[in-house]
Amino acid sequence: MQQATRTEFLERDQRHLIHPIHSRAVHANGHVWVKGHGAVLVDADGEEYLDGLAGLWNVVAGHGRSELADVAARQMSTLAYCSAYAGSSNPAAIELAERLAGLTYPSINRFFFTSGGGESSETSFKLARSYWKLRGKPHKTKVISRQWGYHGVTLAAMSATGISTYWPAFEPRVPGFIQIPSPYPYRYEAPAGLSQGIAAADELERAIQREGADTVAMFLAEPVQGAGGVIVPQDDYFARIREICDRYDVLLAADEVITGFGRTGKLFALDHWGVEPDVMQFAKAVTSGYFPLGGVGVNDTIAEVLDESSSPWMHAYTYSAHPVGCAVALRTIDIILDEDFPAQAAAKGDHLLAGLKAALADHPHVGEVRGKGLMCAVEIVQDKATKAEFAAGDNIGVKVHGATQQRGLFSRLRGDVFCLAPPVVTTTEQLDRIVEILTAAIAEVLPA
Ligand SMILES: Cc1ncc(COP(=O)(O)O)c(C=O)c1O
Repeated sequence: MQQATRTEFLERDQRHLIHPIHSRAVHANGHVWVKGHGAVLVDADGEEYLDGLAGLWNVVAGHGRSELADVAARQMSTLAYCSAYAGSSNPAAIELAERLAGLTYPSINRFFFTSGGGESSETSFKLARSYWKLRGKPHKTKVISRQWGYHGVTLAAMSATGISTYWPAFEPRVPGFIQIPSPYPYRYEAPAGLSQGIAAADELERAIQREGADTVAMFLAEPVQGAGGVIVPQDDYFARIREICDRYDVLLAADEVITGFGRTGKLFALDHWGVEPDVMQFAKAVTSGYFPLGGVGVNDTIAEVLDESSSPWMHAYTYSAHPVGCAVALRTIDIILDEDFPAQAAAKGDHLLAGLKAALADHPHVGEVRGKGLMCAVEIVQDKATKAEFAAGDNIGVKVHGATQQRGLFSRLRGDVFCLAPPVVTTTEQLDRIVEILTAAIAEVLPA
């Protein structure tokens, strides 16, 4: 039987599906992806697109890796599912936790598994609350995060997420979630005489003092802010954040859902700045998107406090430590290490960033080209001198995104910030093609 066309699929889709970030208008001309290979996605009309965001930042090993499918099939036919509630475990989960203990930050050796990033955020909020209660500080419940941070969209995770467009339809947000400004090197204005990174980190100290240290449980931050527009912090930012967290007894949680497992050029991204978190969230690349799996790692102090509790920790998901997810994660980690994804992401990221800068930095409407490892962004502005943005109604980002799709590149935006995070297996020729396409698309929408 002949496969339906994209238009036929979309008609049926519109009748029965509600999509993430649902918008009937946006979806009217959507893609229906039917297969993929390497850095390429193929839609139902047979058109090929470079996958500029590796799915949603996750498909680091690229599409069509049969070794990941084989490992999933083997685990499914051996034992597809079992509970992981206290009293049950499985060999894949045990081995994955052991592997992660050897790979993540030295003091992080215990892991709770989830089905993705949002569940990981919820888990670390609840971990932090229970930890402080067990330590006799029951009022330490608040979570401080940052503007432009993305931590998922379940209700508490959404309340930590600092991209305000995610809020209005679902207000009120959960109380006790506070945002401070992002260190955003392109836009953060530090007081005269102070380094931008130190000034931005000191925003945390002021927020803790304002809220009262005895009410603040944790500070949650992505080492490089991803969905908020690939915001790379200053080199002195996280060391200062660590000092402030220690001074006020506030847990430092790194949301490494995008940055974990090599994308920034290190296996875990706070290593760029020699900083260790107390809690680490991960998802996405751990299975390269081949199975929904995430998790939270905690340091030895938190693990000990949890172990010594006389009552059970009443937090659980049916799919925690799913044996198929854990088996796929183990094989993905083999790929990440055998193919040295951190080194590949560093070299390919440098290549992509240099190409983007050479082609676009002088464009009168390109305010900044930035990145770290294989995470890059091009920020389009109305006025380069004042950094003023285009009016939202001008839809510049949307138009550029449309023009890239016509040329065979598919990625994502934050407003007029065009984000790129292709699979780590993307070839140099494909990276060069991404630069060519984005440059031509910007030239079409904003002729110099
Ligand atoms: C840093 C970060 N945390 C959390 C999440 C939420 O993950 P999920 O969509 O799997 O709930 C995301 C998703 O993009 C993310 O980038």
